[in-house]
Amino acid sequence: MNRHLISAADLSLADAISILDTAEELARLAERPIPKLPTLRGRTVVNLFYEDSTRTRISFEAAAKRLSADVINFSAKGSSVAKGESLKDTALTLQAMGADAVVIRHNASGAPHRLAEWVRGSVVNAGDGTHEHPTQALLDAFTMRRRLGRLSGLRVTIVGDILHSRVARSNVWLLHTLGAQVTLVAPPTLLPVAIGTWPCAVSYDFSSVLPASDVVMMLRVQHERMAQAYFPSVREYSRRYGLDGDRMALLPPHAIVMHPGPMNRGVEITADVADSARSTIVEQVANGVAVRMAVLYLLLGGGPGGPGMAGGPAGQAAMPEPAGVAL
Ligand code: CP
Repeated sequence: MNRHLISAADLSLADAISILDTAEELARLAERPIPKLPTLRGRTVVNLFYEDSTRTRISFEAAAKRLSADVINFSAKGSSVAKGESLKDTALTLQAMGADAVVIRHNASGAPHRLAEWVRGSVVNAGDGTHEHPTQALLDAFTMRRRLGRLSGLRVTIVGDILHSRVARSNVWLLHTLGAQVTLVAPPTLLPVAIGTWPCAVSYDFSSVLPASDVVMMLRVQHERMAQAYFPSVREYSRRYGLDGDRMALLPPHAIVMHPGPMNRGVEITADVADSARSTIVEQVANGVAVRMAVLYLLLGGGPGGPGMAGGPAGQAAMPEPAGVAL
């Protein structure tokens, strides 16, 4: 992989395993009285958000701060973007301020790719349009591996609005690289035209795939990206593609239920399922901090010796020399 993280499809198996293993090491930091490392001291991370976010924005900020980076939060709302300033001019302004990494969320697919042409630092895609959300896929894989002990051969069923889901696309590519078998379930209207080129299976019968699923990942119906009707009614959608207690009972006993959030409770998932012991939804959010720390660490400062957490209180941990392109 190059110095940016723009697409999950760019990650080799070795890259992906390196991120997950580093995240595992960094997750232990949260158990310390002071959950902080000096690894990115003197580095600047800019969070550039053109689209709303709760989990991703907060966890990138927490991740950068736990690695002692300086963090600048930029929201398009309230900035000169409202006066018509372009992404390029915004990027050049950030460059002038010495950004070592820019974490970008944008409603246009491809915006992080363009940004990478204009800034000298690393670009991390925090979700671009309907294209990709690679750190979400990484934290999902991290959560699956923690809960189920492996990724190779895992049977993962992803259900819902695949057409508008950057999470689905990133998960399909990353899980394929990691050796998992992915099945997508959706109404035909909510599948991309080119679905036949994706490395996964497709089913229209949700209940029939559940007994052979180790993981079921529910996706939000993205009403805000819909300019037309894709299904007859929300009630009909929930009946055919929603996960309720009766459907959850079809899963094997060890299977887990995931959702990237935000959820539409009562549409794609019922409240009792979302709050059940099988649900990893809150765990996914917590794991997001460790995974995003690993991404920032490996892009900005990571050396082959790991994050230097082998003992000693935070603040005395080893600080690896910046190694440039580490992924
Ligand atoms: N999963 C996810 O990207 O959530 P946010 O939109 O809240 O960041």
